[in-house]
Amino acid sequence: MKKLPHVSALKVLKNSRRILKNPLPFHYENFEKLGDTFRISIPGEGKVIFSRDPEWVKQVLQKKHRSYSKSKLQTKDLAKYIGYGLLTSEGEHWRTHRRMIQPAFHRQKLKGLLSIMHKAILDELDRIEPNADEDVFDKMGDLAFQVVAKSLFSSNDIRESMTELKSITEENQKMLIKEMRRPYLKTWFTWSGEIGKHLNMAERGREVLDNLIQERTKEKNRVEHDLLDMLLEATYEDGTKMSRKQLIDEVLILFTAGHETTANALSFLLYFLAKDATLQEELYQEVAASKSDTFSFEDMPKFPLAQSCIKETMRIYPPAYFIDRVATEDTEIGSFHLKKGTLVLLSIYELHRHKSFWKDGENFLAKRFVGMDMRQAAEFYYPFGAGPRMCIGNAFADYEMLMVLIEIVKKYQITTKMDTVEINPMISLKPKEVTLSFVPRWGESKL
Ligand code: HEM
Repeated sequence: MKKLPHVSALKVLKNSRRILKNPLPFHYENFEKLGDTFRISIPGEGKVIFSRDPEWVKQVLQKKHRSYSKSKLQTKDLAKYIGYGLLTSEGEHWRTHRRMIQPAFHRQKLKGLLSIMHKAILDELDRIEPNADEDVFDKMGDLAFQVVAKSLFSSNDIRESMTELKSITEENQKMLIKEMRRPYLKTWFTWSGEIGKHLNMAERGREVLDNLIQERTKEKNRVEHDLLDMLLEATYEDGTKMSRKQLIDEVLILFTAGHETTANALSFLLYFLAKDATLQEELYQEVAASKSDTFSFEDMPKFPLAQSCIKETMRIYPPAYFIDRVATEDTEIGSFHLKKGTLVLLSIYELHRHKSFWKDGENFLAKRFVGMDMRQAAEFYYPFGAGPRMCIGNAFADYEMLMVLIEIVKKYQITTKMDTVEINPMISLKPKEVTLSFVPRWGESKL
């Protein structure tokens, strides 16, 4: 069995300041020097394997997925605040619920949600203040949160409850990052009551959702069929339904998994558009040529350039920039032996920029994916992960981002004074700031 190249704990300690600020340049240097897979000793964490090798990604997520589980951070630590739903559960519990919930996210089922999502998007875009320099990251966060919220609770009056729930979700995520970055302060966080305060907030979030679900179950003669209806109707193999607690866990997970990732991708996308007036014009022409007033499922192929821009944004800034797994048994990848308990971090960020697979990979090329055979690209492109735990909301997110792009291009030209966009790698890959101005097309736009 071969040995993997190794980065020592001393080197990590020496670089700890810059790693804390942004670990990606440190990892890049190691990949360039040591190759596509290496071992690193992280003080307090032990030995971790980093890989940007497509074969490793395929083996870990797909071919040998049974030999791996998700890390403690993605399961136990996160579940403390949002419960055991799809994202945070494992084994039979996860498999049963994935089987049950998957049909609600099938493209055909999503057809019925498109008009609800479209309306939520238009409502949120109405909040854009024209001609003002504004950081759009929070706006995109609100938009993505509301799209999930309205897709779940289409008939409820939810603005107030959702403002509260969004704030709870975000505050608890900040706490989780704090715990993750300073594991040595764990006892202090518990003792000082900080964790307790956040657990109470999580409880309050569950109460908010419980009230909304209660309202829903009393409603009669519903016309619109939303995501919550589908979850309420979903049954186990024996015909029984999810408990209220499980339903709330799943709903909380959809908010957590579905809003920040989409908000990050949309913010980076708008930045790239703002830097290229010609691209915006081409997109405007594509939208004009589509001759569709309202967006429908069948319209997707009419927007090859818009879809390419979205894919290219997630190539260069994948919101899930690392995917982690832990070996649950001794296993092998090629000529390497992995001991049970080994933590593997798959760097999707590095794979998406790898010189061997992507020409000019460091740059945003809007038309890169136009006409590309996605079956081939799928070998090196994993914005939504892969294998049985692949993102359940991938089609949902694709439609959402396309609708946002179309609606913005119809109404505005976007400009920015920013020279570059700085990244903020947290649990997901965020931009530090995306300050843009939305200049209305007014009389000029016929759309
Ligand atoms: C651009 C937007 C999005 C990106 C980049 C993204 C990315 C991902 C990735 C990479 C995973 C797999 C993680 C792993 O294997 O460890 C995942 C899982 C998941 N995503 Fe997404 N996601 C997005 C939007 C959404 C949306 C809109 C929803 C729901 C409304 C959603 C719900 C979920 C759920 C429930 C899981 C867990 C699935 C499971 O383990 O069975 N995501 N997502």
